[in-house]
Amino acid sequence: RIVPVILSGGAGTRLWPASREAYPKQFLPLLGERSTFEETLARVGDRAIFADPVIVTGEDFRFLVADQLARAGTPGRIVLEPMRRDSGPAIAVAAELVAAADPDAVMLVLAADHLVTDAAAFAATAEAGLAVAEAGALVTFGIRPTHPATGYGYIRPGDVMDGRVRMVAAFKEKPDEETAKTFLAEGYLWNSGNFLFRADVFLAELARFEPEIAGAAKAVAASMSVDQAGSITFERIDREAFAASPAKSVDYAVMERTDRAAVIEADYAWSDLGSWDALWEASPKDGHGNAARGAVSLADTRNSYVSSDEVHTAVIGLDDVVVVATKDAVLVAGRQVAGELKTLVQDLRAGD
Ligand code: GDD
Ligand code: MG
Repeated sequence: RIVPVILSGGAGTRLWPASREAYPKQFLPLLGERSTFEETLARVGDRAIFADPVIVTGEDFRFLVADQLARAGTPGRIVLEPMRRDSGPAIAVAAELVAAADPDAVMLVLAADHLVTDAAAFAATAEAGLAVAEAGALVTFGIRPTHPATGYGYIRPGDVMDGRVRMVAAFKEKPDEETAKTFLAEGYLWNSGNFLFRADVFLAELARFEPEIAGAAKAVAASMSVDQAGSITFERIDREAFAASPAKSVDYAVMERTDRAAVIEADYAWSDLGSWDALWEASPKDGHGNAARGAVSLADTRNSYVSSDEVHTAVIGLDDVVVVATKDAVLVAGRQVAGELKTLVQDLRAGD
């Protein structure tokens, strides 16, 4: 069975003020009843295909993860990072732990903050990549792009390997807008941030390109400590061993450099809910294109996202806005705001 590895360490600053340092977006019910972390657990819930998941998260989120795992009724390993080192080191440690349990294991890396509503199509796509992953490929899942976004990785599909699976001819992480435009014209796909590979193959590629990350992951795996909190088990990463790892995303560390990458084009809808605009896109809307949550009144307002946790919030005579009212902070912004918001939140934190 495929071992799901769920990365749940992100900060989610672009969904402030709903998403907070202590309670980031992957744990919030932003759409419907369940958080995207819970939806992610459900997506890999078919035990005929997937083993129990490994969750890699920050120390601060351990009880959020444990609670939501329990609520989903899913057993899983909870691996705690003492600090953020980006996705490369997080995946490396998971790969060491997975390979130690089963040297032939194939793992599926998932982000805890993405939206995929068709879980069956997602699982079938992972299964479609299994044979080439077992044979040594690092399989990515491509999304047909809709605009020249600069926050994604871009994949040029090459020759067909096996059914839906093609080689990756080129992988470029976060190009500038000009480059993204040419990529769109040339038929590139977005990288969705899910990866399927043998744990040992990933570690071998990592050792070639990023020996420091690989070495740190080995030292971490040899020095894990286990902490029993009631019925919950936390597996703690040693601070000193992990601190030796450079911070680098898996995309820059391995995917841009490996010649073992493969890609399957997704046949399911996908969003990384990376901005208020993306959340608005993914939300159910009324006849005027508004997505409203909580105690909200709207008049003469179109194509807006309005959400309130407690205080009654009214919006009149505005189009294309985001209004998010929480207990202690309010955001009023143009719907397309994204990068500016990230900067603002970083400034707020620096001022703490
Ligand atoms: N455990 C842990 N620790 N998880 C982390 C850390 C960390 O230090 N840093 C990031 N992650 C998790 C995030 O929570 C997210 O689930 C995933 O790793 C990807 O990190 P992001 O920071 O969201 O990356 P990105 O959105 O800039 O880019 C990635 O995703 C895009 C699609 O959404 C890349 O893979 C792009 O190529 C891709 O297009
Ligand atoms: Mg992301």
